[in-house]
Amino acid sequence: MRSTHVLRAALALAGAVSGACIPAGPFPMPKCKGVDIEDLSIEILQSFMVAGKLTSRDLVSCYLARIEQTNEYLKSVSEVNPDALAIADAMDEERAAGHFRGPMHGIPFLVKDNYYTNDKHNTSEGTLVLLGGRYSSEATVVAKVRAAGGVLIGHSTMSEAADHRALSNYASGYSSRTGQGRNPYNFTQSTAGSSSGSVIAVRTNQVAIALGTETHGSLTHPSAQLGLYTIKSTPGLMSRHGVVTGSYYHDTPGPLARSMKDVSILLDIMVGADKYDNLTLTGVGSYPEKGYASKVVKKQALKGMKLGLPWFPYWASQGHINSPGTRAKYDKRIKELEAAGATIYNITTLSRYGTLLTYATKTRGFDSIASPYGGGNPTSIPSQFNQVTVFSTLMAVGYAEWLANWSFPEDDSRHGMSTIDEMAAWNDAHNDTTGALGNGTWWWDPKTGQSFYDAAVATKGEMGSAFWTAFGWGRMTAAQAIDSAHTYVAVDETTGETTAVALDGLLVPSGRGGGYGNACASVPAYAGYPVAQVPVDQDGFATPMGMCVYGQKFGEAKLVEVASAMEDLFQWNEKPMWHEYLTAKGPWLATWPGYTCSNSSLNAYSCSKA
Ligand SMILES: *[C@@H]1O[C@H](CO)[C@@H](O)[C@H](O)[C@H]1NC(C)=O
Ligand SMILES: *[C@@H]1O[C@H](CO)[C@@H](O)[C@H](O)[C@H]1NC(C)=O
Ligand SMILES: *[C@@H]1O[C@H](CO)[C@@H](O)[C@H](O)[C@H]1NC(C)=O
Ligand SMILES: *[C@@H]1O[C@H](CO)[C@@H](O)[C@H](O)[C@H]1NC(C)=O
Ligand SMILES: *[C@@H]1O[C@H](CO)[C@@H](O)[C@H](O)[C@H]1NC(C)=O
Ligand SMILES: *[C@@H]1O[C@H](CO)[C@@H](O)[C@H](O)[C@H]1NC(C)=O
Ligand SMILES: *[C@@H]1O[C@H](CO)[C@@H](O)[C@H](O)[C@H]1NC(C)=O
Ligand SMILES: *[C@@H]1O[C@H](CO)[C@@H](O)[C@H](O)[C@H]1NC(C)=O
Repeated sequence: MRSTHVLRAALALAGAVSGACIPAGPFPMPKCKGVDIEDLSIEILQSFMVAGKLTSRDLVSCYLARIEQTNEYLKSVSEVNPDALAIADAMDEERAAGHFRGPMHGIPFLVKDNYYTNDKHNTSEGTLVLLGGRYSSEATVVAKVRAAGGVLIGHSTMSEAADHRALSNYASGYSSRTGQGRNPYNFTQSTAGSSSGSVIAVRTNQVAIALGTETHGSLTHPSAQLGLYTIKSTPGLMSRHGVVTGSYYHDTPGPLARSMKDVSILLDIMVGADKYDNLTLTGVGSYPEKGYASKVVKKQALKGMKLGLPWFPYWASQGHINSPGTRAKYDKRIKELEAAGATIYNITTLSRYGTLLTYATKTRGFDSIASPYGGGNPTSIPSQFNQVTVFSTLMAVGYAEWLANWSFPEDDSRHGMSTIDEMAAWNDAHNDTTGALGNGTWWWDPKTGQSFYDAAVATKGEMGSAFWTAFGWGRMTAAQAIDSAHTYVAVDETTGETTAVALDGLLVPSGRGGGYGNACASVPAYAGYPVAQVPVDQDGFATPMGMCVYGQKFGEAKLVEVASAMEDLFQWNEKPMWHEYLTAKGPWLATWPGYTCSNSSLNAYSCSKA
């Protein structure tokens, strides 16, 4: 395989890593020059470099060795950076000369394959159709992390086209370029997508931290299923320039990390206005004065915190709470939060906006919009409110803009390719490798087809009234649901008087759903609002489960506070045990064996014993 050759070459460059014996069994992390670096935060890794115990070259060498040791199983890294060791050396020299750039100085990081990097890497969004092309300039956030001292050691794999190639029945974490990324907790279980390679890599210590992106769930869901931390920020907080476009209104880059502190360190580096991304102008003025990292708190901060549970549908009925063995674990966490001093508000109605939010017979804010299928198309939603139209249209527009600055060599048949129509046609013509003519067979089958591309082609990229009606409905309904839920209206039973209580955040369970995946991302995606993800436990199949925290527009600083307090209280960090890493064959399994999941209506999604 191509990637293996590159890895071997890089490892040869790295030389032998002292102390790195390759153990049998479930792959314990080898020590790095005698130092145990497993699961360490950026801060601690940095302290080793400051103390002279490790250099950036040591870290890069150890991570490259780890990639070499595990990547054939995990399929999480598509390419390593042939220049990684040279960059590390430069960082070490700078440090030796007394120049220290900050907490990322010399720290290795990976970026998802949809971040364009202006170096020897390919960037292809996991596709074959973009492989071999170049963009006009490096992704702004990559340039920022490099300038902060980060050492780019490679690109991580992803669900093909960020889960934007097929509308349904595709394997998350699979791409025709790199194959199926695997969940190290249980190889038969999904990683969720689409930042799958980034989360696998961080979770298995192939790297210290990684960047992913989210249009609709691609940071929050895989981080939940691999027990990591992230913040999907408000689109506009940081630049999307140089990141392959899914949707102008929904896309956000973001860090995937082992702690909220690490997430915040990266946020501080990544945020800011960019002349190449006009949406970033909306974020100016919303960055905290002393930075996001200054907002990290301990569990004591939970005292007096006010947290809401949007009961319908998240806690009442969705598969993510009803998965085998999960409800009791979530309930326990809520009790722990209360015991730590937080007040929990059970949000059962949105009395102030209840009627505004209704359509058809729905009466509760989140019920009307929280689709368990993410971007799916539940039959109970009137077609004019179809969010698939929104995403398909924005994808056609976005790819056209992307391709305008993307170039293939002149002798390449794709030279001059400028629309998603041409991308879809190229996939068809190369159906033997791209699987574009597949018929949407569930999961592992690489012939997933390209129904999402086809839907995008059908929109002609026309942002007409159908688009704006659906987009406007989604954006307004979701924003109102989140905003109004942040004001809890307490009613005095005897006097009938109401008191408004401002909440610090909303907690949403984000375990693996019975039939598909997690669904905490939809409403913040529609709204264009931020969401944090905190690991809380493992489900009955050894797969991690998380808790999402919903915040308000540009409310990332508050999310850091709430999520870091929860992190300190829960301190969940079970190591992956590599269950079934030798026996898991083709597909990771969808529903739990012995369970059937009903998806007949938007609100009745649930799984029960067959
Ligand atoms: C980039 O992809 C090409 C195939 O198009 C491959 O030959 C090359 O090795 C890749 N580069 C790296 C750095 O992996
Ligand atoms: C912002 O940029 C997008 C393309 O990225 C463009 O379609 C839009 O017209 C721009 N808006 C303004 C107000 O410049
Ligand atoms: C929240 O309210 C619902 C509906 O009244 C109830 O069924 C549920 O048990 C309550 N949950 C908590 C944690 O109080
Ligand atoms: C696209 O390329 C044009 C021409 O080279 C350049 O002027 C423009 O700034 C580029 N746009 C982006 C978003 O990189
Ligand atoms: C599918 O690929 C085969 C070759 O693998 C080719 O003969 C055929 O024309 C392709 N189909 C389409 C619709 O392009
Ligand atoms: C779709 O794929 C399945 C599994 O490969 C196959 O059994 C079925 O015949 C295919 N259907 C069509 C219409 O091609
Ligand atoms: C891994 O998942 C499979 C179902 O896909 C399940 O049968 C198995 O028990 C799980 N392994 C563990 C250790 O939970
Ligand atoms: C919905 O349920 C039907 C019947 O159980 C099943 O065939 C279909 O694949 C399910 N769809 C999704 C998206 O889970």
